[in-house]
Amino acid sequence: MTTSHPTGNSTQAQYDALKAKNLKLNMQRGQPSDADFDLSNGLLTILGEGEYMAGKLDTRNYPGGVQGLPEARELFGKYLDVKAANTIVWNNASLELQGFVLTAALLHGLKGSPKPWIRLEGKPKMIVTVPGYDRHFLLLETLGFELLTVEMQDDGPDVDAIEKLVSDELVKGLLFVPTYSNPGGESISAAKAQRLAGLKAAAPDFTIFADDAYRVHHLFEDDRDLPVNLVQLCAEAGHPDRAVVFASTSKITLAGAGLGFMASSEANITYLSKLLNAQSIGPNKVEQLRHVKFFEQYPGGVEGLMRRHAALLAPKFQAVHDVLSAELGEGGQYASWKSPKGGYFVSLDTALPVAERVVELAEQAGVSLTPAGATYPGGKDPHNRNIRLSPSRPPVAEVREAMQAVALCIKLASEEYRAQQA
Ligand SMILES: Cc1ncc(COP(=O)(O)O)c(C=O)c1O
Repeated sequence: MTTSHPTGNSTQAQYDALKAKNLKLNMQRGQPSDADFDLSNGLLTILGEGEYMAGKLDTRNYPGGVQGLPEARELFGKYLDVKAANTIVWNNASLELQGFVLTAALLHGLKGSPKPWIRLEGKPKMIVTVPGYDRHFLLLETLGFELLTVEMQDDGPDVDAIEKLVSDELVKGLLFVPTYSNPGGESISAAKAQRLAGLKAAAPDFTIFADDAYRVHHLFEDDRDLPVNLVQLCAEAGHPDRAVVFASTSKITLAGAGLGFMASSEANITYLSKLLNAQSIGPNKVEQLRHVKFFEQYPGGVEGLMRRHAALLAPKFQAVHDVLSAELGEGGQYASWKSPKGGYFVSLDTALPVAERVVELAEQAGVSLTPAGATYPGGKDPHNRNIRLSPSRPPVAEVREAMQAVALCIKLASEEYRAQQA
């Protein structure tokens, strides 16, 4: 193939050479790799024909209620550091449970709400952290919430900013990721969690919606963030019904066929179960039994499985850091990025407002990135700087190749910007 690309070693020439490679790489999917899934293939055959009893309960039939199999509630209660009675174990996808609780709050109010949130004298408002998870924004915006943003800091949400916002009675809650947040990988400190639990909010039903999707997703054996227990902290602070914590096995077993679950006060669980019961006879109990048996047999249980995920994931995160450092330096001239101790993402901020251009250049060079702006409500990053990198799905060699391309795109976009400003 002939080429008419500029010669020399200019950034533009390097970019043209990159484009000529016709890469097809994807760094936008926050999905496990096939090697991660393979660790849980045992789930597919763990129940032999005839193995459908959970104690005296026939999992094939309707009875059992909406709160989930007792064995599954025990297992995931332990996971969330609460009693089985404080849990509901549901179907695949914790986002569905988040949607259920938020919809219940709008239509009926939560336990202790003076009225349903859609009957307030104005749009209900929800605090979210930025940069954050696009699906949280989508869910809340779709349900009609007004979103108020606070910065995600290294030790959790900006609680000073939250303290000011909650003097407004229409501010009904906070939705955030307490452990290894998406996309920055930050975890809330015990001190900040305590402050949230004791917050003096104007709304009597102010609720902390904690999406603890990455609670056990440590990358390292000996350098881990300790997850907090918001249900207990809120009870100790005199707000027993304030916290609702969500999680799932999506990034533990099978993303498309796992279990979502939640924890809260027993009173909240009773209240929400009644509403859930109106829309379902119960969750998929066979899937729950499968997960219970699988973890009973898995060496080291959930912890053992997560160690094996970490062995697959840590080299990919290391590759992101190594390539960015080698190509862009660590002084922040072109970009700065987080080096998380867990979770699924690396959050990168360009030094100049060029995130959209970087994503565009990368796309044109065959490297697909999360759209710029996705980490802010409405898909609009006011600083045009944040890019979420997802190294979990591609193999390490592809992560390296993609990051080399991304680094080059950051350089080119920065040079273009400087030239425009000159
Ligand atoms: C913070 C966070 N919550 C929830 C999810 C999705 O979870 P689930 O599959 O349980 O709905 C993701 C997936 O990327 C996530 O990053």
